[in-house]
Amino acid sequence: MRQDNTFTLTDNRTGKKYEYAIKEGSRGPAAVDMRTFFKDTGMFSYDPGYTSTASCSSSITFIDGEKGELRYRGIPIETLATEHNYLDTCYLLLNETLPTDNERLQFDLELRHRAFLHEGLRNLFNAFPDNAHPMATLSAAVTALASFYDEHLDICDEAEYTEMASRIIAKIPTIAAFAYRHSLGIPFIQPDIDLSFTKNFLTMMRAYPGGKMHLGPLGHEDIKEVEVRALDTIFTLHADHEQNASTTVVRGVASTGAHPYVAIASGISALWGRAHGGANESVIAQLESIGSVENVEKFIARAKDPNDDFRLMGFGHRVYKNFDPRAKILKKLQDELKVTLGLNSELMEIAAKIEETALNDDYFISRKLYPNVDFYTGIILTALKIPKNMFTPIFVIGRTVGWITQWIEFKKDPESKIARPRQLYTGK
Ligand code: CMC
Repeated sequence: MRQDNTFTLTDNRTGKKYEYAIKEGSRGPAAVDMRTFFKDTGMFSYDPGYTSTASCSSSITFIDGEKGELRYRGIPIETLATEHNYLDTCYLLLNETLPTDNERLQFDLELRHRAFLHEGLRNLFNAFPDNAHPMATLSAAVTALASFYDEHLDICDEAEYTEMASRIIAKIPTIAAFAYRHSLGIPFIQPDIDLSFTKNFLTMMRAYPGGKMHLGPLGHEDIKEVEVRALDTIFTLHADHEQNASTTVVRGVASTGAHPYVAIASGISALWGRAHGGANESVIAQLESIGSVENVEKFIARAKDPNDDFRLMGFGHRVYKNFDPRAKILKKLQDELKVTLGLNSELMEIAAKIEETALNDDYFISRKLYPNVDFYTGIILTALKIPKNMFTPIFVIGRTVGWITQWIEFKKDPESKIARPRQLYTGK
């Protein structure tokens, strides 16, 4: 019997009709269940870049790209960024609820204890040239980490996968900081169990052995609380973003049964590209190459030229067609940091000019191209004296919880299958 919640497709060559169920989510667009389409019709659906494909059902993150809305487990990103911190966000993603005071304390302690790396892993860093990009070292070290922990995880055993998740979230900042220090040829700083997640990372990046900060004119320049909060906000905003390119890679690797940390390492590699997380590094490199406010118009003209492959880094998004809510939070943060840290760099002026010009230009308006999260993270991280090659590793630190939460969801989902798309063959 024909039902209302179905979708009928007609093959106009034969007049044959095919009916598919419409699956309703809790919010957002519904999806036509096409799983039997090939069996029914002998044809594939064609969708390069998956612009119209829901590859799974998920209850982790919701995005409304038209409204500029982002929620983790139903909670608006604005609430998490202003009233909570990154560890609360991690707990929320993994456990579906925010922690109680006691749960927060236990989770924090667990991450502090798990931040250390196996001594054997240290040797791996020496295999990389001094000038290695920290993303290369990071991805390799996470793959190596898989060999230190049992790959036969029982997904029905909550304690096992919770431990696996906490371990990778806790160790990623240490690996990232070690990768950075190796790239400078300076000694590693071990995690400090007395420090919070975010402060610990900044310390492992900046400190001299013995935990001292570098000397300024008035003595040791300790890490400022405002810097810790800014970085923590960046981690929170990056924590998850539903089925983005790197998460799709993580789920794809999960579908083959590979070790979860290998799936994360693959996600790191996918994130590195400048169309994705690598954009934060490219934004600053681009601002530097623009050089001065007077050159902005020239570069905007290049971005609009269909014969030039130059793109404005930090602009545009596959899903957000109004504004990126993460960018809105970061713009506010950037303006606050300008006052509290007394910043006013030429790069900031160039960025402000680009933003103003693009937002009033019909090319960008008609294509709904707005500044995205990476447009502002690069500027804020520069203000926090973090070197360019660490911007994408910082994205990795934030996103690890999202990847591992999506890995767990994939493993628990009875509808999960190996990721194995087909093709429209055009060869000989
Ligand atoms: N500068 C100039 N033109 C652009 C840009 C840009 N940054 N982004 C898109 N366009 C144009 C594009 O040329 C196309 O124009 P036309 O219709 O005339 O051919 C139109 O806008 C649609 O672009 P698209 O490439 O079909 O859009 P997409 O959804 O496939 O790509 C994107 C999204 C983010 C890869 C792209 O906007 C881009 O390359 N942006 C710059 C890189 C960047 O900032 N990436 C970070 C994304 S946010 C964080 C993350 O996901 O990690």
